[in-house]
Amino acid sequence: MKIIITEDYEELSAKAAEIMLAVVKNNPYAVLGLATGTTPLGLYGKMIEDFKANGTSYKNMTCVNLDEYVGLDKNHTQSYAYFMRKNLFDWLDINPEHTHIENGVAADAEEECRRYDSLLKKHRQDIQLLGLGSNGHIAFNEPGTAFGLGTHLVKLAPSTVRDNARLFDSEKDVPLSAFTVGPANIMNAKKILILASGAKKAEAVYGAVRGTVTESLPASILQRHGDCTLIADRQAAALL
Ligand code: GLP
Repeated sequence: MKIIITEDYEELSAKAAEIMLAVVKNNPYAVLGLATGTTPLGLYGKMIEDFKANGTSYKNMTCVNLDEYVGLDKNHTQSYAYFMRKNLFDWLDINPEHTHIENGVAADAEEECRRYDSLLKKHRQDIQLLGLGSNGHIAFNEPGTAFGLGTHLVKLAPSTVRDNARLFDSEKDVPLSAFTVGPANIMNAKKILILASGAKKAEAVYGAVRGTVTESLPASILQRHGDCTLIADRQAAALL
């Protein structure tokens, strides 16, 4: 795994943008695997700036997202579908029909997981962006998730519900389950870029990079990927 340690969040976002934009500018038909959470927001801001300044076109690109809360439809303001539109897609020239995410209100969860797996098979990620949960989760793959899993339904860890409560009016509004792509879908990406910022992520960063590869710390699987870059700011990298 390639490790880049930056002074602060601003520099982390700038370095992430260099890597993401290299993929984007190299291939107008690129498939971008994207992530939610607050960590990628700086990077998304830089992609939007680049689009405004240089007109880099996304019209032939495809975006596939990692996960979605169960029970929230795509217009719910706390859904990840809404988050992606407001923070990135609405600012670019991407065709909304080329942006994909699990349907949080799918009637048949099993069928929805299979639909998403086949979609990912058709659209293999040229780059997969990831954030990191403070418990070492990637997407919503919580500790204990089998590395071989594809898209599946997950019950969120109590620590994840607590971490994500800051984005809801109250903790009781946080959905308790979600659809997520599995470790196998993530590992299938040609390139992986994982971002971690702040002291709360330091232990998870250490485990992901230096720890044993174990299902107890999902991000540790990334050590087995041939082209994975971790960018961490000084606080998140404190234990390395
Ligand atoms: C959620 C998302 C993850 C994300 C994590 C970290 O749980 N499902 O994909 O990596 O939050 O979020 P943040 O970047 O806000 O710390």
